[in-house]
Amino acid sequence: MYVTGTTTAFTSADTLPGIEDAAPSDQHDRMGTQSSHPTHHTYRTHHLQTPGPVEGIVPRDTPGAPPAPGPRDILVRVHAVSLNKRDLLILDGSYPLKAAPDVIPVSDGAGEVVAVGEEVTRFGVGDRVTSTYFPRWLDGRITPAMIDQPGATLPGMLAEYVRLDENAAVRMPDRLTWEEAACLPCAGVTAWNALTGAEAVLPGETVLTLGTGALALFAVQFAKTLGAQVVATTSSGAKAARLRELGADHVLNYVEHPKWAANVRELTGGRGADLVVETGGPDTIEQSVRATALYGRIALIAANSPHRPNLEITTDALASSVLTMRRIFVGSRAHHERMNRAITAHGLRPVVDRVFPYEEVHAAYRYYASGAAFGKVVIRVS
Ligand SMILES: NC(=O)c1ccc[n+]([C@@H]2O[C@H](COP(=O)([O-])OP(=O)(O)OC[C@H]3O[C@@H](n4cnc5c(N)ncnc54)[C@H](OP(=O)(O)O)[C@@H]3O)[C@@H](O)[C@H]2O)c1
Repeated sequence: MYVTGTTTAFTSADTLPGIEDAAPSDQHDRMGTQSSHPTHHTYRTHHLQTPGPVEGIVPRDTPGAPPAPGPRDILVRVHAVSLNKRDLLILDGSYPLKAAPDVIPVSDGAGEVVAVGEEVTRFGVGDRVTSTYFPRWLDGRITPAMIDQPGATLPGMLAEYVRLDENAAVRMPDRLTWEEAACLPCAGVTAWNALTGAEAVLPGETVLTLGTGALALFAVQFAKTLGAQVVATTSSGAKAARLRELGADHVLNYVEHPKWAANVRELTGGRGADLVVETGGPDTIEQSVRATALYGRIALIAANSPHRPNLEITTDALASSVLTMRRIFVGSRAHHERMNRAITAHGLRPVVDRVFPYEEVHAAYRYYASGAAFGKVVIRVS
């Protein structure tokens, strides 16, 4: 076994003694843990064995029952995971954090607590939970010591069972399915942090979203619940219709209108957007700055692009503005919990494009990488 601090990878040697015989829920076994899960003869995990093409992710069946939780851990039966851009970057080795050797991929997952360690206070058997993106960033400001992430430096969620520190999980919103809840930890929390993490969006303000990546779709949904007017951009007429269905008040085609900042100003009576959720980075930053209101904010989500090496803003664009730009690193557990409350209060449902079975992990990665999805790509694990 190796212990990473917040999530733990396991071998068959760590399996929970007597788990097959465990009494139904709310019983403590002889290790002091509480468990309710059924007999298992093997359980399957996936591992990033060789960075590069998706074939480098391999399944592994481990004989025996799932592992025992440590005193402050929960054992989660994973039901669904979702893919994010970072999972592709980790796979091809271009993510800023290097993947741990043989790491279990994927940061985002939802599942059911099937056993808890004897010192666990946050959860009980049967609770429905999701992972958190930065297991050590609970609240306040992130520090360099909190940068570890599941599916990169820590074991991820692409497994039938995962053992999480109780602090590295949150209860999922009640009315969501496993597949919907699995969409939240990265794209959902990032969008929520962009809109509320500093100077929160106020009713009547204008939020500008760029394109139809999963994060931008969350931003549209959250902005509407906050009472904002939403201007969204896309390259596609069909996607424009779907953005409107999701709540966007105005949709601009950025191919037909490459200088869309002028259109945003027109739509806002010359004022500009109060908040730009900047998911295009180097490709869009100049227009985003030009589209921002005098005291507006830009939440800088993407800093890189395959098309341009640097974020470049002309002096002319900046000269007449006193905007504030804030870089976003997903968000803390507190952001995640506040977002969950808002999702429940407003009955929001994440946009799921497609759900793949657990046997089709490679197909799911390929489909996601193709860019064809409108919404999240999910893998149903169990
Ligand atoms: N900093 C953080 O914490 C954080 C967290 C999560 C993700 N990210 C980053 O955020 C970015 C967005 O991620 P994502 O997964 O939601 O989406 P994504 O898959 O990277 O977004 C693709 C979409 O962007 C749109 N797009 C492409 N070029 C554009 C342009 N010139 N102008 C406007 N839109 C354009 C396209 O929309 P249409 O098809 O509608 O044209 C495309 O569908 C990624 O770079 C990701 O790495 C950062």
